[in-house]
Amino acid sequence: MTGLPAWISAALASKLENVSRGELRERARAISDAYRAGDSSDLIRSDMEALAYAVVRMPATFAAVRAALGYAIEIVPEFAPKSILDVGAGPGTASWAGIDAWPSVQRTTLIDSNPRLLALAGQFHNAMQRDIAADIVAGDLRQALGKAPAADVVTASYALTELTPASLNHVLDELWRRTERLLVIVEPGTVVGFNRILACRDILLANGAQIVAPCSHEGRCPLADNARWCHFAARLARSRDHLIVKDAHVPFEDEKFSYLVAGKGFAGIARGRRVLATPKVSKAGVGLTLCAPDHVEERDVPRRDKDAYKAAKRLDWGDIAKP
Ligand SMILES: C[S@@+](CC[C@H](N)C(=O)[O-])C[C@H]1O[C@@H](n2cnc3c(N)ncnc32)[C@H](O)[C@@H]1O
Repeated sequence: MTGLPAWISAALASKLENVSRGELRERARAISDAYRAGDSSDLIRSDMEALAYAVVRMPATFAAVRAALGYAIEIVPEFAPKSILDVGAGPGTASWAGIDAWPSVQRTTLIDSNPRLLALAGQFHNAMQRDIAADIVAGDLRQALGKAPAADVVTASYALTELTPASLNHVLDELWRRTERLLVIVEPGTVVGFNRILACRDILLANGAQIVAPCSHEGRCPLADNARWCHFAARLARSRDHLIVKDAHVPFEDEKFSYLVAGKGFAGIARGRRVLATPKVSKAGVGLTLCAPDHVEERDVPRRDKDAYKAAKRLDWGDIAKP
């Protein structure tokens, strides 16, 4: 179960003092409805709306990015980045997840066109107890990227979804040009989100990228023409305010997300086979659905095969199994 880092929760709590939960709930509902209808973050136009985003969406997008980074770190554990470039940064979610994942990070650049969300990002940065430089750049990423510095890790979290399909190629080329080692893209875990990830994968492979996660290979995606789509789930704890504002009672939620981590300079990495669904445990053994080159492998690990069974029982959706 993931939660926002304590310093973000504390900063949020202090911003929520004296804020009407009724008004916050109304704003949060409007934002959720608009996102569900496929609208963009343009509808966040006031500090209250930015705060509503931070209460109801940021914990989920943070959990998704943090999970994606965790999966990447399993593949490239030695990698210790110093810099992040976070586009469509909003309140800085992916930057804070990157800083949480890698203690080596020293600076981040955040680009976003929404002044309210960027103001919140600045306030979170001020609340951070670590000495990390943050350059906060207001502007449309399609132009601002031209002047942005390269970084060890470039992130686009729930941001490409807000671009027109026509600008995807150009933006990805620019993001890749600025990527020193890893480009991390996180999208909603829907068919549409997955298809965007697939389009990004094709463009990045054509640019010579190595796929660090979730794919087990650089070949054709076995889910490209499949009834399934490649997505994962991150469980996050709901804070008291999150529950109040969402009118919810269950103290957690599962955020479904699709992601891609593309790398430079990681040739020869061992990636195993990604578990694509919750393993099926029965009396006979464990059934695993795995990403393999050009096909989805359905592997049955029988109970009598003691060591393999023990290892398979420990696996969860999103983990890596041996090839
Ligand atoms: C759904 S929010 C995600 C924010 C944050 N990355 C997260 O994961 O919580 C999408 C963000 O992309 C930004 N965005 C969308 N199109 C943009 C553009 N053309 N230029 C800059 N920012 C953009 C929005 O302002 C918004 O902050």
